[in-house]
Amino acid sequence: MTDAPIDWEHLFRRARAVARHAYAPYSGYHVGAAGLVDDGRVVEGCNVENASYGLALCAECSLVSALHSSGGGRLVAVAVVAGRDVEDLQPGKPCGRCRQVLYEAGGPGLRINERYTLGDLLPDPFGSDALE
Ligand code: THU
Repeated sequence: MTDAPIDWEHLFRRARAVARHAYAPYSGYHVGAAGLVDDGRVVEGCNVENASYGLALCAECSLVSALHSSGGGRLVAVAVVAGRDVEDLQPGKPCGRCRQVLYEAGGPGLRINERYTLGDLLPDPFGSDALE
């Protein structure tokens, strides 16, 4: 577990960089997400769309996939950026499904876009405790 302060500038830079790789030919909306893991690594994800529109993969879900495929761990902080102009991406809001997926990987204390915790964005969540 790292106690270093969160370098938000770095996370937002990484999120903006990975958003350039978004595959978004249908919406034209590029999303990039970069997450700090509790061991200090940074993982990333971008959105990946499909001709069958409803099958789009969100950037945050790609990030959680990258988290596990690169060794696992817990997410501590996530920066999300979004927009149609990749030269002018702004902080983006995780959709409802992504909030739930992020919850599994970071819990209520996960920091989102510097100003929120996941607990702010997903009150009274459905978590593993509900299955006990
Ligand atoms: N999208 C994300 O990547 N993350 C979100 O939290 C919301 C939406 C993507 C899905 C789709 O490719 C595009 O944004 C427009 O909805």
